[in-house]
Amino acid sequence: MTAAIMPTTSIISGGSRGLGLAVVERLLERGDCVATFSRSGSPALSSLAARHPERLHVEQIDAADSDAVRAFVSRAAARFGRVDHCIANAAVAHEGVVATIRDDEIDAMLGVNLRGSIVLVRECVRQMLVRPDGAESGQEPARAGSPSVVVVSSVVASRGSPGLAVYAATKAGLEGFARSMARELGPRGIRVNAVAPGFLETDLSASLSEGSRARIVRRTPLGRLGVPADVVGAIEFLAGPRAAFITGQILTIDGGSAG
Ligand SMILES: NC(=O)c1ccc[n+]([C@@H]2O[C@H](COP(=O)([O-])OP(=O)(O)OC[C@H]3O[C@@H](n4cnc5c(N)ncnc54)[C@H](OP(=O)(O)O)[C@@H]3O)[C@@H](O)[C@H]2O)c1
Repeated sequence: MTAAIMPTTSIISGGSRGLGLAVVERLLERGDCVATFSRSGSPALSSLAARHPERLHVEQIDAADSDAVRAFVSRAAARFGRVDHCIANAAVAHEGVVATIRDDEIDAMLGVNLRGSIVLVRECVRQMLVRPDGAESGQEPARAGSPSVVVVSSVVASRGSPGLAVYAATKAGLEGFARSMARELGPRGIRVNAVAPGFLETDLSASLSEGSRARIVRRTPLGRLGVPADVVGAIEFLAGPRAAFITGQILTIDGGSAG
């Protein structure tokens, strides 16, 4: 009797809306099993869960709660039998100049964007290092179908932005984490990359003033703000077999405004 082939499993934080929701949808379309969490649900995610009851695992937990994240990853791995790709996407942004930013706002950004992403990646990598047959993965070179991590950064990590210094610091920290993890995990066959989007039309950027919006559009050669669909393809590519020899990279997706 031949063993059942388990579908690729992807874990992504913050799948209830915005970019995360769009990635969940795309990964389900390509046939993955997907596990995602956020603090609250959303009608769009519930409707995806109703359409894909066998392949979509949804929980409501806080990315800043390490024990909850650890338990979530282990339940997802037990349900689907493996973890192939981890996408650290959940983030919060509190705008404000450093002179007035509050401790709780700093803690929230560090706790979700940086610490929460690191804990999620650690838990997923622990699962990836154990092959589905239960053996520990050895010195395997990266190959088609190899496991991967994608962290979602932002162009402000490298460019800076007034009013977003702490948020930018969390994203710059994530990029350093991704580069180091790529070196650490390459010999174990696990790739680690980051995407760095420019401003996207989502809830996270809803507080952007009309003036800032117009300024961003003016300095963007492609002449508009991004939307989640502009970034989804890059994440799908990095978390897939066509990127089998790509690791340690930060892929900027900003309509050319970094120019
Ligand atoms: N929008 C932009 O302009 C922009 C630009 C560059 C990079 N990015 C990055 O792209 C990623 C996605 O952003 P987005 O624009 O899609 O944001 P969004 O629309 O605000 O969605 C954020 C997602 O993360 C979840 N989340 C937030 N805090 C959480 C927590 N403590 N625990 C669990 N889940 C949490 C949210 O659900 P709950 O609130 O229900 O928990 C939601 O599902 C982020 O990493 C962001 O930094 C965004």
